Amino acid sequence: MDTGNKMTRRDALKRMGAAVASVAIASSGILSLVSCEKKGKRVILYFTGTGNCLYVARQLAGDGGELLSIPQLVKQKRFDIEADEIGSVYPIYGHMPPNMVRQFIKKVRLKADYKFAILTYGNRKCNAVEIWDEISRQAGTRFDYINTLIMVDNWLPNFDMNEQILIDKHIPENLYKIATDLAGQKRWHEPVTGEERRQHEEFLERTGIDPSTGFVLKSEKYFTVIDGCIGCGACVSVCPRGNYELTSQGVKMQGECEFCFACIQNCPQKVIRFAKNENDPFLRNGEKNQNARYRNEHVSLMDIKRANWVIQRSNYFTGWLKPGML
Ligand SMILES: Cc1cc2nc3c(=O)[nH]c(=O)nc-3n(C[C@H](O)[C@H](O)[C@H](O)COP(=O)(O)O)c2cc1C
Ligand code: SF4
Ligand code: SF4
Repeated sequence: MDTGNKMTRRDALKRMGAAVASVAIASSGILSLVSCEKKGKRVILYFTGTGNCLYVARQLAGDGGELLSIPQLVKQKRFDIEADEIGSVYPIYGHMPPNMVRQFIKKVRLKADYKFAILTYGNRKCNAVEIWDEISRQAGTRFDYINTLIMVDNWLPNFDMNEQILIDKHIPENLYKIATDLAGQKRWHEPVTGEERRQHEEFLERTGIDPSTGFVLKSEKYFTVIDGCIGCGACVSVCPRGNYELTSQGVKMQGECEFCFACIQNCPQKVIRFAKNENDPFLRNGEKNQNARYRNEHVSLMDIKRANWVIQRSNYFTGWLKPGML
């Protein structure tokens, strides 16, 4: 590109300032201007339960980038990805990656000159960056840039979704800063403090979650469907593990669960609820607001289905499906 003495788009954006630019991002998708500066092909791998990560992945892919859903890649057994730049966007669960993302990074071969990871979270990230750096390096992949982005917290036991969506978490501004870093191929990991490491250790101790797997729970133990189901099948389509089934006796779910909340949050009738169990650290307090559910405002139910749908149509009514994905 011939820039001559003319001001480049990046210079222009810098002059505008992040605050002004963030307003523009929200209204006119100016983020794609930042992405325009990048050379070559950018591929973004993502995992999402409620759309935050898909939204971020879309924004960072810009017009020319390619978006690849990790559940779909796992389903297709596609473990070789090559591009000039490869990014990964996932939600942190207990400061750790979703189990499927963890298994995926162990199998995939990412070939790119520049690799980045953006970890979305809602309230407390702790040492998530360090955890991902360690997991990915052990798997043979080093990410040049790892950063976090605070968004709506979809953790239903602690947060009321109606309250969460009203909090201004400065998403456009923070996303703009990340996009600018990526346009310059910045090599950097967000620093982690000793206190954040300590808080993560305390979390593991309190919950009993195994740090070598992260959240892998049994869906039938944690979720239940109350009266009012209309048999729409959304839960079947949004589960990246294929745990749901429509049967003549209603909806049933069974199987190892990412705890991504795609099912409970995307049910249009709000009839998927947490099961009750006083002795379980995640079920003890129930839910903050059973009538409030969340999906990112820029993401449709169909988008989540496209991202996570792992069940073949022919298997819908033929009994429990065991996808054997990983
Ligand atoms: C099982 C689970 C665990 C979570 N753990 C954390 C956490 O430790 N810290 C945090 O700040 N947010 C946590 N969250 C919130 C999500 O990371 C956050 O809302 C994320 O942006 C959701 O992304 P998605 O919409 O793409 O699924 C958790 C959410 C779930 C479902
Ligand atoms: S998404 Fe909700 S209403 Fe639709 S089939 Fe599943 S449980 Fe029933
Ligand atoms: S059962 Fe629900 S929470 Fe578990 S993996 Fe499927 S969609 Fe996610």
